[in-house]
Amino acid sequence: MSVVGLDFGNANVVLATAGRGGVDVVLNGNSNRINPNMAAFHGKVRACGEAASASLSSNLKNTVVGMKRLLGLKFSDDQVKREMEYLPFTCVENPANGGVAVQVMYEGEQMTVSIELATNMMLRHMADIAKEANKGQAALDWVVCVPAWYTDSQKRSFLDSCQLAGINCLKLMHETTASALAYGIFKDAKKEFAPDKPTNVVFIDMGATGYTASAVSYTPQKLTTLATYSDSCLGGRDFDAAIANWARDKFCAKYKNAHDPKEIPKSWHKLLLASEKAKKTLSPAGVKEANLNIECLVDEYDFNCTLTAADFEEMVQPLIDRLANPINRMFEDAEKNGISRADFSSFELVGGGTRVGCVKRNLSKILKLDASSTNFGLSTTMNADEAVARGCALQSAILSSRFKVKPYDIVESSLHGVQLEFDDHEGKKEVVEVFERGSNFGVVKRVTVKQNQPFRVKASYVPLSPSHMIHPSTPLDICHFDIDAPKVSDATKIRVNVKQDISGVITLSSAQSVEELPAEEAKESDNAKEADAGEAKEGDMEVDKKPEEETAEVKEAPKKKYKKTNLSFTTHTAMRYSKDAMDSASEVEARMGNADRVARETSAMRNELESYLYDMRDKIGDYGTLKDYATPEELLSFPKSLELAEDWLYSDDGFDSTKSVYADKLSEVRKKGDPIVKREYEAGHRQQAVDTFKGALETYKSFVQSSDEGYAHITDDERDTCRKAIASAEDWLYDMIEKQGNVAQSSDPVLTLEMISAKQKEIQGVANPIMNKPKPKPPKEEKKAAEEEKGAEPSEESKKEADEASKDNMDAEAVPPPVPEVDADTPAEPESMDVN
Ligand SMILES: Nc1ncnc2c1ncn2[C@@H]1O[C@H](COP(=O)(O)OP(=O)(O)OP(=O)(O)O)[C@@H](O)[C@H]1O
Ligand SMILES: [Mg+2]
Repeated sequence: MSVVGLDFGNANVVLATAGRGGVDVVLNGNSNRINPNMAAFHGKVRACGEAASASLSSNLKNTVVGMKRLLGLKFSDDQVKREMEYLPFTCVENPANGGVAVQVMYEGEQMTVSIELATNMMLRHMADIAKEANKGQAALDWVVCVPAWYTDSQKRSFLDSCQLAGINCLKLMHETTASALAYGIFKDAKKEFAPDKPTNVVFIDMGATGYTASAVSYTPQKLTTLATYSDSCLGGRDFDAAIANWARDKFCAKYKNAHDPKEIPKSWHKLLLASEKAKKTLSPAGVKEANLNIECLVDEYDFNCTLTAADFEEMVQPLIDRLANPINRMFEDAEKNGISRADFSSFELVGGGTRVGCVKRNLSKILKLDASSTNFGLSTTMNADEAVARGCALQSAILSSRFKVKPYDIVESSLHGVQLEFDDHEGKKEVVEVFERGSNFGVVKRVTVKQNQPFRVKASYVPLSPSHMIHPSTPLDICHFDIDAPKVSDATKIRVNVKQDISGVITLSSAQSVEELPAEEAKESDNAKEADAGEAKEGDMEVDKKPEEETAEVKEAPKKKYKKTNLSFTTHTAMRYSKDAMDSASEVEARMGNADRVARETSAMRNELESYLYDMRDKIGDYGTLKDYATPEELLSFPKSLELAEDWLYSDDGFDSTKSVYADKLSEVRKKGDPIVKREYEAGHRQQAVDTFKGALETYKSFVQSSDEGYAHITDDERDTCRKAIASAEDWLYDMIEKQGNVAQSSDPVLTLEMISAKQKEIQGVANPIMNKPKPKPPKEEKKAAEEEKGAEPSEESKKEADEASKDNMDAEAVPPPVPEVDADTPAEPESMDVN
């Protein structure tokens, strides 16, 4: 399982792996396929996923959730303010990059944890799950999905988190494209797509927080995203919040003197949970109502109410109204590609949010499907929770060098157009759109600038109409590049090669100055041309056409020779961690990771001590199995030691101590308990060991007396040697049994399992070599010898006889008389006897 894909949903994380057997979802330690996306701080320990979820309601302030929507945003961003309304913990500004950090209590002190560090925790947790499922081998190549509406800065922050977690992320993939890949690749293998008639499918994903519609076209071995549109703030949690707000009004109206549940994080959390449950109850068609029953919602006030499907639909109508816009715009874009609504053959739903009944019904209406047909004409052929992770795992296998996968082309559709802005040598501002909205990723574009000094190129999103899909508050700036162009009197041409990599992140591939050369330097220029060609293919990326002006310029002067010099440059991104910030975050993670390990080991040792105390307390008690094996003195002192150790364990000191102190306590009580346990064990297994030994002796005895032809070659002396060894062992055994019979159960035994085993090995050493002695080859027959003496060929008859004889001989060797296997069969020692 070296290749994995991760659906890092705002609520749920799903990990899938691709291998020879296909794609599988990786189960966590509790055999569940879905992992709650949360990272918790609990005293001295941290927990993620299900472990964090188990204590969520009592640890709301120290459990970081919703990381996906906080990554890559400035703390001052309006989106952060909106998110904070959903979050019960305190967010502050991250001094490292102006982003978001969370204040938690850790090791008894307040600590500021950046959102990248919290994301790293969850990613590490998933990496641990992958490792555990893969017999301790780490997953090597990852593809992680992000929403299509993620900006450059959000993607960069996510990549920072992956880097912190030590995850080798080959690509950040759009969620709907991952679903599309999971849908298409197996159909492609079954040759379901035709080259001349593309199959067009719409994917609609509504998760906990986001909603995206994507139109995809399939031809053999190729998937083309025609258009993708999102409403980044529409998801299942908005439906929960609508119910919770409705219920809150009811509660406040009923209990006028009670506190408002929304003001109390724990109460609001309870209300949201109950609301989500009610929403799910109402999901299947035909369910008319759901109950909300919450004990002690606020203080001692319980709250019960009934929500009808009609009321639910009415309260979520404003959310339902937002479903149409992304779909309609997606169809408009598809239409521009010559694909009309009627050309789509399937409408696939993914994401938990699409299970809401009224969402499905309204999607069907918006898509103009036959609402009377099954599932309102919508298709749910894929697993709504797993499709994204499966698609990522497939993409990971396609990209990984560790796998050989049939080529499959994935054409992405960027949600954001990108433009470059720079001043030329005369101070004139130029703006060039380099990547259009809807363009593919993994492309390098070149822009030529006339400059005579170092200059700056700014990359930003192309402003669209107010309904464009970047959140209105998101700054359009992406990053800027300071290019070290030479300071010269005459302006030179500078080529700026900008790349939108396969994750959709904008980088500067290279910057070059281009000087026209005198004709005599043609040779050098030819070399430069070769170098240029090499650079254009960088990263196996497709190199798009140069912008119009530059293409024209080169075409007009094809004979001219140029010298190209690579220029140094620096990249400035608003949010990305600097090396120092990354190092210090790694240090914090390492320190906390170490503390986690110590805490885990300490807790394991504490549990071991606690289990020992409970176990022994019962066993040494009046009805316990150990009682008869303890001396009167031990019967007093051992229970006393157990009691003292237990009192200590539940005292303030013992509740929170160190691993070595727990280990010392355990060995202290075991020093008293182990001799008793050993006596009981010896007594319990002695008879079995004696019987096994006796059985072995009987087998040896029958060998010594055997007149079997197979043992005919054993000499009398050898038989005598065995006979004496058997007699001596028997004497020893019966003597020891007698002595043991005179020893009280509460005293240490005189005949131990170890002694029996040793004696058994001793006789084995004498008897086995004799019994297993190979039979000598039979002497040649006289007749055959006489024939040989005469030099005559043996007759056919004598040949036959000789063959028969050798066959007999072989048979005799191949099937020797049964030799008893008399290995010492002493039962294994119990674990508690290991007192060293
Ligand atoms: N049977 C159901 N009926 C209604 N809603 C459901 C049902 N099952 C799950 N949901 C909702 O689906 C949402 C979670 O879906 P999902 O796991 O796809 O989200 P996510 O991928 O974590 O979030 P996002 O894609 O927004 O980052 C939750 O709001 C949950 O309440
Ligand atoms: Mg999702």
